[in-house]
Amino acid sequence: MSKQTVTPVEPSLSHVAFIMDGNGRWAKKRGMPREYGHRFGVKAFREILDHCRKLELKTVTFYAFSTENWKRPEREVRALMHLMDQYFEECEKNMDAYDFRICFLGDRGVFDEKRRARMDALEQKSAHRTRTLNVALNYGGRAELVHACNCLIEQGARSVTEDDLAGALYTAHSGDPDLIIRTGGDLRISNFLLWQAAYAELYFTDVLWPDFTPECLDAAIADFYTRKRRYGGV
Ligand code: IPE
Ligand code: IPE
Ligand code: MG
Repeated sequence: MSKQTVTPVEPSLSHVAFIMDGNGRWAKKRGMPREYGHRFGVKAFREILDHCRKLELKTVTFYAFSTENWKRPEREVRALMHLMDQYFEECEKNMDAYDFRICFLGDRGVFDEKRRARMDALEQKSAHRTRTLNVALNYGGRAELVHACNCLIEQGARSVTEDDLAGALYTAHSGDPDLIIRTGGDLRISNFLLWQAAYAELYFTDVLWPDFTPECLDAAIADFYTRKRRYGGV
């Protein structure tokens, strides 16, 4: 799709979050190991991120690795980490042309110092950009809520408000998603943005993540525009 043909999103849509699911099944269908699917998953991620930029979305959030994904075979986890490191390198090299402020959601304490320093540097170097790309890495909605509570306790809180809690989440800088898209056909949230999803519109598609194209995203957005968001009102 050429740059000129992309119409920016309407003001009612500022934050889209993606549960990028289906890489393993995509590879299996081709008789290939799951890692092969993840490689094509990164390719789809790049294309979708570029489309999000053209759509002028203010915030995009991608679920890349959950707190539960450590249960996977070591070989797959290693491959996923390697793909992440490769993507970090790509961002570092193209930082001047990079359009997004990168923020990582999740507990990065599990990563070694080198990877953590890299993540910190990417966040710092891109901090002046106005659009936000959240990458959820070792992220779990439950772990995030527990982490937020512990932060507030450490700060001396004895009781908290909704605003206090929202402000202690990893997403404090970017707020709640308007639309959450899950590919891969499963109808669940899988521990993603549990607090922030309270009034998000949910969109599920059978398309496996490596097959998710800009046109698929356009279809999800067109569906979003038909939704009536009542927030409990009438
Ligand atoms: C990608 O899809 C999600 C990640 C954890 C990176 P999966 O690897 O879960 O693929 P399926 O669901 O097994 O097909
Ligand atoms: C959700 O997908 C996590 C990511 C997309 C990173 P999973 O494949 O891990 O979710 P389940 O196991 O089907 O719930
Ligand atoms: Mg999956």
